[in-house]
Amino acid sequence: MPYKYFLGAVLLDKTGTGVTTVLTKTDNISDIFRVYPQELIGGRDVTLTEHREAGLRFRLDVRSVYWNSRLSHEHARIVSRIPKGAVVADVFAGIGPFAVPAARHRGCTVHANDLNPESYRFLVENAKLNGVDSLVLAHNLDGREFLEACGRMEPPPSVYIMNLPAISLAFLDAVPTGSVYAHCFTRGHKSHISASSEVGGGSVSTVSAQDDVCARVGAVLFPDLISLYPSAGMLPDGSLAEGPASEVARVAAEVRRRIPSIHVHEVRDVAPGKLMVCVQYIRENVVAPAAPQSPPRKRTQGSSGE
Ligand SMILES: C[S@@+](CC[C@H](N)C(=O)[O-])C[C@H]1O[C@@H](n2cnc3c(N)ncnc32)[C@H](O)[C@@H]1O
Repeated sequence: MPYKYFLGAVLLDKTGTGVTTVLTKTDNISDIFRVYPQELIGGRDVTLTEHREAGLRFRLDVRSVYWNSRLSHEHARIVSRIPKGAVVADVFAGIGPFAVPAARHRGCTVHANDLNPESYRFLVENAKLNGVDSLVLAHNLDGREFLEACGRMEPPPSVYIMNLPAISLAFLDAVPTGSVYAHCFTRGHKSHISASSEVGGGSVSTVSAQDDVCARVGAVLFPDLISLYPSAGMLPDGSLAEGPASEVARVAAEVRRRIPSIHVHEVRDVAPGKLMVCVQYIRENVVAPAAPQSPPRKRTQGSSGE
C-alpha cells in the first residue's frame, strides 16, 4: 500500500487520544485461527487492546486471535433471537462476542468453544471481566469434537452458533437437535439483485445466494441429494456456484421441503461478489427424504457429500 506510513501517522494524529497503534491488513486470512496478516504502520507495537461492544468489555490481542468489529450487528442480531435462559453452544466462539452477551443480556448458559488456545484464554478472561464466568463454560476443542460432546450434555444445548464462514457448513451433520445459526460465504447473487442484471453487470453467478447456501446445507445433511446434482463443486468450501443454476435451485427446493424452517440471512458484503450469510434452521424439522423422482445418477469425481 503506497503512503502507508503517512496514512498511519495521519490516523494516529486525527482519530483521538485513545489510538496508540495503527495496523493494516496485508493479505486475505488464510490462518486456521482466522488471524489477519497485519503490519504496523503507526504508533507503538502493542496489539493487546480492549474493545467495547453491546455495553461489554472484550480484551484481545489482534496478533493472536480473530476479531472483526464489523460483525457487531450480527452478534447483536443473533443474541436478541436466543430465548432467555436457553442453553447455548457457541462452536467457534473466538473471544466471546456471542457467548458473553448471551450470558449477560439473556441469562443463558453458554458452552463456548474455540480451538485457538489464545482465543480460549481471552474467552475465559472476558467472561470474568463481564461477571458471567459462572454462565460461560469455555472449551478448547476442535468443533466436531465439541459438537459430539454437546450431544452428551445434560441439559443439552438448544441453540448452536457456528461462525466460521469458510468451513462451518461442513460441521452441520454433527449438530444434535436445536436451532442452528451457521455462517458461510457465498458467490451467489443477493436476493434483491436479479440474475440477469448481475450477468449484464459483468458478474458470472446466476445462482442466488439463497439457493446456493440451501443446496450446500443439503449436500452436508442429505447425502442422497448429491445424486440429484451431478456437477462437481457443491461442497461446503464455497465452490458451489459453478453448477448449473437450475440444478442448484432443484436441490435447494428439496432442502426447503425437508427443512421448512430454513432461512438464509444476508450479513455483509465481504468483497465484490462475495457475501457473508447466516443460514438458520431448526434441526428437529428435518423430514424424511421423498422417494427419488429420477434414477440416481453416478457421482462425479469431487462431488462427495462431505
Ligand atoms: C471467524 S472466527 C469467529 C469468532 C467469533 N465467533 C466472532 O464472531 O468474533 C472463527 C473462530 O473459529 C476458530 N476455529 C477455527 N477452526 C476451528 C475448529 N476446527 N474448531 C473450533 N474452532 C475453530 C478460530 O480460532 C476463530 O476464533
